[in-house]
Amino acid sequence: METLFYHLDPGQKDEYRRILMQAGEIIRQGGLVAFPTETVYGLGGSALNSRAAEKIYAAKGRPQDNPLIIHVSAVDEIESYCEMDDMSRTIAKLFMPGPITVIMKKKPIVPDSVTAGLPTVAVRCPQNRQARDFIAAAGVAIAAPSANTSGRPSPTSAAHVLEDLNGKIEMILDGGPCDIGLESTIVRVKDGNIELLRPGGVTPEQLCAVFGKEHFRMNDAILHKLADNEKPISPGMKYRHYSPKAPVVLVEAATDEQKNRYIKARIGEGNKIGVLCFDEDLSLFSGPYVRSLGRRDDFSAQSHMLFAMLREFDETDVNTIYAKTPPKEGIGLALYNRLIKAAGFDVVCVDETEGKA
Ligand code: TXA
Ligand code: MG
Repeated sequence: METLFYHLDPGQKDEYRRILMQAGEIIRQGGLVAFPTETVYGLGGSALNSRAAEKIYAAKGRPQDNPLIIHVSAVDEIESYCEMDDMSRTIAKLFMPGPITVIMKKKPIVPDSVTAGLPTVAVRCPQNRQARDFIAAAGVAIAAPSANTSGRPSPTSAAHVLEDLNGKIEMILDGGPCDIGLESTIVRVKDGNIELLRPGGVTPEQLCAVFGKEHFRMNDAILHKLADNEKPISPGMKYRHYSPKAPVVLVEAATDEQKNRYIKARIGEGNKIGVLCFDEDLSLFSGPYVRSLGRRDDFSAQSHMLFAMLREFDETDVNTIYAKTPPKEGIGLALYNRLIKAAGFDVVCVDETEGKA
């Protein structure tokens, strides 16, 4: 099929309204529209239409047991789709619209194909204006995973979506680059605690400030590989994600200097070694495959760039990509989680001797 591609500029009022009306109509007819959000681009279909959900799985090549997030245009629409407990309501009140998704008990109106048969549903109200105007124009909640081919890094620009889905969906709405660049934080309430299932723009520190550290849990799968026989809470946790074509290796060490020495030695061993580093490191490493994510202490900039950089490496013939571990705090935890998944949990811990090699 031919995929329509439109720039969505709220400044061009008539054009903006016309495009959104057309996009809304596609959704009501059961078609698919990719749209911008503040986290990553989503691949949307009507959340109440099981055929649309099936088309989403097919377009992405996504396993059918991996449920979709449903997106609403306003916080007060959430309760039409799920049963809300008090803690979930507090999260919605304080952090939505925004980069957070809450898992709650689903109402029967949500089809099983959207939740992959689970009794729960993931709900999010994005902050991005174009996203909310699009959902409102559709007049129904939008079920949407990230708009990438399954297994590739999530798209943070409309060009990324075009790369993966051109010819497979009805329309792509281009709202420019995503502000955050990593997918939403996912949480659920369990036994009176908030459990973090995926770190993102809303940080553990922000959640602890509201509910107290004693009511905050972090799911093991965020930093550790699941055992083969372990059943994940979030089906998405078990799939290798965010993976560029070349293997990624995360480099952990006591100091930044040790990490740099280790990577430098790898570049010396042969060519085609990719490096994901920071602006401050660019003078240390040389070669065609060295990329900076931004300034060392600017985690927002790094989050913003990560997926685009991983995609860029796919255009090269790089053999192995080395990346330095970010601190596991604030949005750094989300970065760490995406990197360790891209690396398939391949982390080298450099000791004093090896660092000097
Ligand atoms: O920022 C985001 O969340 C983006 C934008 C488009 O909103 N969406 C996104 O969707 O990242 P996706 O499908 O790529 O990731 C959703 C994750 C998956 O790992 C899935 O397993 C999990 O959410 N999930 C969805 N419904 C769930 C449920 N009922 N219980 C547990 N996990 C669920
Ligand atoms: Mg995804």
